[in-house]
Amino acid sequence: MARITAGVFTSHVPAIGAAIDLGKTGEPYWQPLFAGYEFSKQWIANEKPDVIFLVYNDHASAFSLEMIPTFAIGCAERFEPADEGWGPRKVPPVIGHPELAAHIAQSVILDEFDLTIVNKMDVDHGLTVPLSLLFGQPAAWPCRVIPFAVNVVQYPPPTGHRCYQLGKALRRAIASFDEDLNVQVWGTGGMSHQLQGPRAGLINKAFDNAFLDRMLADPEGLAKVPHLDYVREAGSEGIELVMWLIALGALDPHPRLVHRFYHVPASNTAVGHVILDNRH
Ligand code: DHB
Ligand code: FE
Repeated sequence: MARITAGVFTSHVPAIGAAIDLGKTGEPYWQPLFAGYEFSKQWIANEKPDVIFLVYNDHASAFSLEMIPTFAIGCAERFEPADEGWGPRKVPPVIGHPELAAHIAQSVILDEFDLTIVNKMDVDHGLTVPLSLLFGQPAAWPCRVIPFAVNVVQYPPPTGHRCYQLGKALRRAIASFDEDLNVQVWGTGGMSHQLQGPRAGLINKAFDNAFLDRMLADPEGLAKVPHLDYVREAGSEGIELVMWLIALGALDPHPRLVHRFYHVPASNTAVGHVILDNRH
């Protein structure tokens, strides 16, 4: 059977992708950020996942105000990097896993979580920057990726609690796939940041570190944090953190902490990164 071996959590920021693509990772501004991912690159090279179920958000690249799915599962064979205004990033295409994605769609929808099925979709920095952080600059991504897009851009996003419960349905779905696959579930976005309005530039280290603590110490309580707390404490884009709760919900209770990293700033964002081992 397929098994979820680990959860990986990381912020995404377009400027991180640009720093990698333009060869700036060694510059003084960026070096401390990328140092926090050195362990992770070694770790994932040993782990060799077959499939990553990658929870991220689209930033009006594939979707727009014309169409706003709350939860969208990518079932295609292949997903191209999106053009976000400067041409598509020169990173490899993302190769999907249509059979596992279709199985997850069936299992999760019949488990009463309504997903939008997407058979054609470009993927933006929300998905490609986390891949670059963990895998660097390979000619091809070393595993299949199932993109799972969550609306955190246009009010109303799903609640953290809904995301956490969806993660549990995802765990049941993956565990019932009849093929021996090493699957990782990634939660991306966050941590505190606000890109707009009078509070643009907001960072809240205390909130972020409490969030990181509670992922292990109190996940059920963390899942009940209301939207208003995220927006007030972590900024309008801090709401991206609800996506981490999908990946957290997909893990067994009491996963093992393998790596934790926190750094401010990357562009306008506080960067958090956690790896949780799900094997017992
Ligand atoms: C930044 C952060 C984001 O999450 C994003 O989607 C775009 C930009 C930033 O910090 O610049
Ligand atoms: Fe974002």
